[in-house]
Amino acid sequence: MEGENEYKRVAVFGGAGFVGNALVSKLLDLGIRVGVFDNFSTGRREFLDETSPHLEIVEGDIADRDRVEDFVQRFGPDAAVILAAVHYIPLCNRDPVLAMRTNVLGTHVVLQACGKAGIRKVVFASSAAVYGIGDNPHDEEEPPAPTDVYGMTKVIGEELCRDASRNYGLRTVVARLFNIYGPRETNPHVIPEIVSQALAGDLLRLGNLEPKRDYIHVSDVADALALLLLSPMSADFEVFNVGTGREYSVKEVVEIAERVLGRKLYIEPDPARMRRSDRLHLCARIDKMVRHFGWRPRVDLEEGLRRLLLWEWAQAVPSTVAH
Ligand SMILES: NC(=O)c1ccc[n+]([C@@H]2O[C@H](COP(=O)([O-])OP(=O)(O)OC[C@H]3O[C@@H](n4cnc5c(N)ncnc54)[C@H](O)[C@@H]3O)[C@@H](O)[C@H]2O)c1
Repeated sequence: MEGENEYKRVAVFGGAGFVGNALVSKLLDLGIRVGVFDNFSTGRREFLDETSPHLEIVEGDIADRDRVEDFVQRFGPDAAVILAAVHYIPLCNRDPVLAMRTNVLGTHVVLQACGKAGIRKVVFASSAAVYGIGDNPHDEEEPPAPTDVYGMTKVIGEELCRDASRNYGLRTVVARLFNIYGPRETNPHVIPEIVSQALAGDLLRLGNLEPKRDYIHVSDVADALALLLLSPMSADFEVFNVGTGREYSVKEVVEIAERVLGRKLYIEPDPARMRRSDRLHLCARIDKMVRHFGWRPRVDLEEGLRRLLLWEWAQAVPSTVAH
């Protein structure tokens, strides 16, 4: 087994985004040199510690083969993580060509460049959106049955990883990430909406309240991705769910926010935010991560919401900034 824990240089495609900046700072803390490749469509330079001598930042599009190959050759990573994607589902529905170009063609270009450069391992950020609709927590063995363009692009991304492990001698690991929340979220999701409205007043205007999701704190996702990157794998292609194994409805999230804030919040249905169809459950089985690595998420939803509310509050009052 090669020494994954000896990786000294890691390329993070999409490293300036919400998950990316948390992962990059974790890798830098571990003493790893990090090369971020990002087009800054949603990610931001200021999310990264540009003063770090161990961090290199390159602007580029993952579907641009020459630029990706040049970056990989020049930076010379031992391993890579693919986070770059069009992730906001309404945007994927509005512009499926952009979603396919980024999530499918871009993933292909990066995998091919990594294979060509003799990189040893690639971790790919997939999504819970590859799963079909069902009431029970999802298992990695379940056949994918995506219900939207975004989920379809992630299924193809996973298959490209499987193919790269067969044909380019790359070891590839797929992380199926569930609903992530935490500081510096880039895409409009329900938890940042609840937090910003709750900080502004007691009345929340929200869409569907019943659908339950498996919300995982971004620091737990960064830990899990680092673990998948740095741990030896028993196979050349592996798939892991990264979630908490617990799901909460939007209504329950609001109730937890009430507890954290110590005040009552009132909900007013907002027809503009209602989705016509929404799956009622989306929850992970995390037995495989527990079995293989003894990994479990450390931040529960109440603690995660407390941290997020404090962080948002500190952003609004910069002189009291705390992390
Ligand atoms: N946030 C979640 O809840 C969640 C859940 C499941 C899966 N994921 C997946 O995790 C990954 C990271 O998600 P995120 O929430 O950090 O989103 P994000 O939008 O913050 O991160 C994506 C990053 O990729 C960059 N990017 C986008 N298109 C690019 C392109 N063509 N070339 C180069 N860079 C490009 C963006 O600028 C951004 O920095 C994505 O692959 C996403 O699909 C996220």
